[in-house]
Amino acid sequence: MAVLITGGLGHVGSWVATHLARAGRKVIICDMAAAHFDRMGLDYLEEVRDNIVLESVDVLDTHTLFETFLRYQDELEGVIHGVSVIAGPTFKTRPFRHLSINAMGTLNVYETCRLLGIKRIVNMSSGAVYGDASGQLHETTPYKATDLYGATKISGELYGDQYSETYDMDIRQARLFFVYGPGKKPSHMHAVYQAMFGPLEGLKGVHAANGRDQITDWTHVEDTAQGIVRLFDTPAVPHRHYNISCGVAVSHQRIVELVSEQLGYDSDMQLGPGPFVVRGAPLDIQRARDDLGFTPRYADIREGLEDYRRWLLGQS
Ligand SMILES: NC(=O)c1ccc[n+]([C@@H]2O[C@H](COP(=O)([O-])OP(=O)(O)OC[C@H]3O[C@@H](n4cnc5c(N)ncnc54)[C@H](O)[C@@H]3O)[C@@H](O)[C@H]2O)c1
Repeated sequence: MAVLITGGLGHVGSWVATHLARAGRKVIICDMAAAHFDRMGLDYLEEVRDNIVLESVDVLDTHTLFETFLRYQDELEGVIHGVSVIAGPTFKTRPFRHLSINAMGTLNVYETCRLLGIKRIVNMSSGAVYGDASGQLHETTPYKATDLYGATKISGELYGDQYSETYDMDIRQARLFFVYGPGKKPSHMHAVYQAMFGPLEGLKGVHAANGRDQITDWTHVEDTAQGIVRLFDTPAVPHRHYNISCGVAVSHQRIVELVSEQLGYDSDMQLGPGPFVVRGAPLDIQRARDDLGFTPRYADIREGLEDYRRWLLGQS
């Protein structure tokens, strides 16, 4: 049997694929970037290459998506959907394109699964579905969109719930939050990410326009992946929505300081006033602990930063 992952070459998807493949499972990755795999530097995924099949598919190309899923239909345990344009300063620059990928792309995956009788789907959603709600964010906290990205993640959840209800499907939502760690080079990221994590890669003197006034639960990518795999593998779950994060909020400014302490020098990283994105925090992860046995390994961000630094050192 096999698991198909859309966006399986992305930061989170590549780690989900790695965890499954390390456990000896066959993984079919459908990603628009498949042709570039050899140049992506995903060393952890290259180690399990024998268990991976790569397919170049655009989730907006409904026909190719259908044909690809059809080829593997008989061996599929289910699908993990991880294609999205993620939240950040560039999201609003091409609204129609980005909303289409997130909302229509997700609908295309659900619909293809419906037509082919594939019942189990885990959709990578986001804590953005809570907007700027205050206090600990529990799965029962009402939906609130504070930006376009959040609206796409809410729509992906609503479509999923109604497909499950209407067509007897089992579509589960993993609400992820602020992911960092191996696989993502700070030098390829936006200024706020660079100001926090860049010194681990040797960057210096990044002055971001905002981000200082944000406290949130940055989560090590392997913890995120572990939670998604658990949500996929648990045979029956009592709920459709699960928060998957480290569950511990730390201020962005504190992360800048912790990185500096770890390196033993100041890299002159500065965050400007205001939040990076408007969000509440932290996510309450008790439901995932109780129902999935999810335990974040890097609840203490200092350990996550050390692991990230080790990986980045190995890249140079
Ligand atoms: N990274 C975070 O901090 C974070 C936080 C909350 C939720 N999420 C959600 O988790 C999921 C994965 O995020 P990520 O950080 O791994 O993103 P990513 O940008 O690293 O990966 C996305 C992948 O999708 C592929 N892709 C993009 N458009 C495509 C298309 N039209 N067709 C096929 N493939 C396409 C890209 O090539 C890439 O490999 C997303 O749904 C995101 O919204 C991420």
